[in-house]
Formats: sequence, C-alpha cells, structure tokens
Amino acid sequence: MQDLKTIREEALSAARQAPSSRALYEVKMQYLGRGGAVTALLKGMKDVPPEQRPAFGKQVNDLRAALEAAFEEAEKALSARELGEKLAKEQEDVTMPGRKRAVGTLHPVTRMKNQLIDIFAGMGFEIFEGPEIENQYYNFTALNTPEDHPARDMQDTFYLSEEFLLRTQTSAGQIRLMEKKKPPIKMLCPGRVFRSDDDATHSPMFHQMEGLVVDRGVTLCDLQGMLDEFARVMFSEHSKTRLRPSYFPFTEPSVEVDVSCAACGGKGCPLCKGTGWIEVLGAGMVNRRVLENCGIDPDVYTGFAFGMGVERIAMLKYGINNIKLFTENDVRFLEQFKD
Ligand code: DAH
Repeated sequence: MQDLKTIREEALSAARQAPSSRALYEVKMQYLGRGGAVTALLKGMKDVPPEQRPAFGKQVNDLRAALEAAFEEAEKALSARELGEKLAKEQEDVTMPGRKRAVGTLHPVTRMKNQLIDIFAGMGFEIFEGPEIENQYYNFTALNTPEDHPARDMQDTFYLSEEFLLRTQTSAGQIRLMEKKKPPIKMLCPGRVFRSDDDATHSPMFHQMEGLVVDRGVTLCDLQGMLDEFARVMFSEHSKTRLRPSYFPFTEPSVEVDVSCAACGGKGCPLCKGTGWIEVLGAGMVNRRVLENCGIDPDVYTGFAFGMGVERIAMLKYGINNIKLFTENDVRFLEQFKD
C-alpha cells in the first residue's frame, strides 16, 4: 500500500513536469506500459495473500485509472500548448510582397511567325511545311534556277552531298505543294532556311515565309492589294506599298516590295536611310516554266508568289539592328518581348 502511494505521487509529479508530449509519453510508459510500475503491481498479485487480493486489486485499478486520467489531462494541456507554439512560429505575413517566379516568353521570331501566320490565315492561306533538307531539284532546278546561278555555288549553299543541301529558300515548298495540289491554291510556307552568309543583317540560319496563290485570272494587282492589307496590319494603318522591278528566276515579272517607313511616315529618316521606303520582301508572278514543271497549264492558270524574311520583318518592326540578337539567347533582350 505504501508502494502504491509513492508510485502515485511520483507519477503525478513526473506527469506535471513533463516538458513535451513526447516526454510525457515516456513517463506514461514507465508506469502504465508493458514493463511499467503499475503493470508490475498487477503481475505481483499472485504474491499477495488471497484474503488481501480484492482490496489490493481495487487499489491498483484505482491507481491506474487515476494515472490514466492525469496523463490524459496533461497530454491535452501539452498538445494545446505545442500547437499554439507551432502556429505562432509558422505565422505568415500575408501582406508581404510575393516572390515572383521567372516566366519564359515566346521567342520574338516565334511571335513574328505566329503574327504573320495569323494575318495570312485570315486571308484564307493554308499552311504547308516542306523539309529543311532538300535536293537540288526542288530548291533550284524546278524553280527555274539555272545551273550557273550563283546561289548554287558552294560558297552560298550548304551541301550535304552532290544532290542534297540545306534549303536556301522556302520557295522549294511551292514546287512540293503544286506537285500534290492543283489550283485554286493559296498557301503559306513558313520555315528555316540556310545560307553561307554572316553579318549584322544576315545569319547562316534564318526564317522565311513563302506565299503562293494560283488560280484562273490572278494578276499583279491582286498581289499588291494583298500586300497593302498585310502592311497595314503589320506596320501601320497608313502604310503603303511600292513595287520595284527586280529579278528572280521563278517569277516573271519579279518585284521587290517596299513599305512606306512607319517610323517617319515616308518623310525620310535614318531607319529608311532618308528614302521614306523600306524593302520588305521579294515577289512576282509565278514563271510559266515553274507552273509547267508542276504540271499546271500556264495558259489557264496564273499565280503570284512572295517570300519574306521573318527576322527582317521583326527587325524592322521592333527596331532591332543586329540579327545575332535572335540567336544569342540573352534574356535581357528576349524578355522585352512580353505581352
Ligand atoms: N526565295 C527568295 C529569296 O530567298 C524570295 C522570294 C522572291 C520568294 C520572290 C518568292 C518570290 O516567292 O516570288 O530571296
């Protein structure tokens, strides 16, 4: 009986002093666990004289109930305190400015390409993509480009073999499409092209956008009307276009297309070198030999084609003076092109 009293006092004081619920658990195990003091008392029942057993048993059970209640109460108090401490520690100041995550943006060339596709898709053009590795036939021969044309020179074109090369122009897509599809045709062929060329406005790899329209009665007027609309949407509502005679083997007549300078409105400024005009693309009426090469009768159908450099349009539109900026991947440059 004396033992019971000591155990009770010790246990209650240990429970009161336990600094944490973990420590409290340890204490609880010391008394009520399998090898604990109270459990040992119950196991020792057999040594108690039989006539005292009921009284002793009752005392031990009372002790166990009292300790269980005491531990439970202490446990409640400790967990409440611990939760309070944890919450206080984790408290967040919701008025603090958040940490910004760096978000990527579309590359300016991709943006320009998407914008061009939007404009021409709005006029009913379909997208057609040809391969980047071409053979001489699609890149040159079928486009009426003679064997001795300088573009065919090793200096100007990346050859993979005698026959295969990295396409120098998306114009090759014209032939691939016309072999498959007969007029009416309204196609836009975007893609990468490759030339042995390298300075502030030329890069060995760049992007072009080719357009081709073939049907009965297509004229140069249709080309200019469409280009006027393009220039108004791309540059400014006051933009005008001007055609200058030029030469491309696959068009006849061929033209260079200028757009009135959006920076000065055509008065003349450093951007347009004082002329009021900026050259933006090459175009022309599809050469009858090209149509014949694709099995289209040039006496029935006519067409126009145009080709523009995507980087060039982006440089004009955003005032970028070096084409290398597009491939250097300097984030300070790229992140300026955000919505
Ligand atoms: N392929 C020409 C080039 O790379 C651009 C071009 C000019 C495309 C006139 C055309 C065109 O379709 O009609 O310089």
